Amino acid sequence: MIRPLTIVAGKGGVGKTTVAAALALESAARHRTLVVSTDPAPSLADALAQDVPDRDTAVRDVDRLEARQMDASAAFARMRDTYQSRVDAIFAGLMGKGVDLAHDRAIARDLLALAPPGVDEIYALTLLTDALFKDAYERVIVDPAPTGHLLRLLEMPQLALAWSHQLMRLLLKYKDVVGLGDTARELLELSRDLRALETLLHDETRCGVVIVMLDEPVVRSESQRLAAEIGRLGIAIAGVVLNRSVGRGAALPATLPVAQAAVQVVAPTADPPPVGVDALRRWRASWIAP
Ligand SMILES: Nc1ncnc2c1ncn2[C@@H]1O[C@H](COP(=O)(O)OP(=O)(O)OP(=O)(O)O)[C@@H](O)[C@H]1O
Ligand SMILES: [Mg+2]
Repeated sequence: MIRPLTIVAGKGGVGKTTVAAALALESAARHRTLVVSTDPAPSLADALAQDVPDRDTAVRDVDRLEARQMDASAAFARMRDTYQSRVDAIFAGLMGKGVDLAHDRAIARDLLALAPPGVDEIYALTLLTDALFKDAYERVIVDPAPTGHLLRLLEMPQLALAWSHQLMRLLLKYKDVVGLGDTARELLELSRDLRALETLLHDETRCGVVIVMLDEPVVRSESQRLAAEIGRLGIAIAGVVLNRSVGRGAALPATLPVAQAAVQVVAPTADPPPVGVDALRRWRASWIAP
């Protein structure tokens, strides 16, 4: 169920971060892997029982595995500040050239200030896919923030692309007056990265979502809706993990009705909870077919 880009999805508290960490350990047995959480809460650090800062960090005693807790809003804010000062510089350069700028300058400022919500997380994803394309990693496993609702996130590349094009069009109006230089080049890079991400998301050989769920009626019907929506977006479901489903004397749960290609497994309740590399590996080894 692990694809080059694997996104772990599911309701709050079902075990997404734990599953992401366990899959990452499995993947690292053969492939250079990065596991990233874009969740502002320090969740991966808890699951792996080690410090995980906002940069690729080797997981202790594990070859080929790095982890990162990415602050998506900070990354996007840095990019936005860069554009803000570039835009200011462009308009400053235009001063005294007899062009009425007040209007466009206001538009440019608004475009930057009012970037669509969720753009920060999608920007984080473009940084991650860049890591894949530059061949630094063979696998990237993402544990997304619960707030940046996954479905919104998956629809985001289009919105973000439209946003970057608007900004570009505005700046292009002045290209003959002031050279756009780095700004234009970087905006082009951003839209190229967004398009690459959009393509990657829809390539079932390279990207898949792993749904984590509990065998409870409410969670089950929500997961079913989630699966349907992901399908509607044309994104593959690579796997379903029925978490905490055995070990309570219950019968094995039914699978989720999703595409045949999806690998479905039952992950037992572990006592104590699977925290740290060794416990995660043992827990992963205990998963069974439903
Ligand atoms: N199979 C399991 N057996 C025992 N404990 C588990 C199991 N799966 C997860 N847990 C524990 O449940 C808690 C929640 O798990 P986790 O943080 O992975 O969920 P999450 O879906 O990432 O939550 P959030 O939505 O808050 O990010 C953690 O303390 C974790 O150790
Ligand atoms: Mg989590």
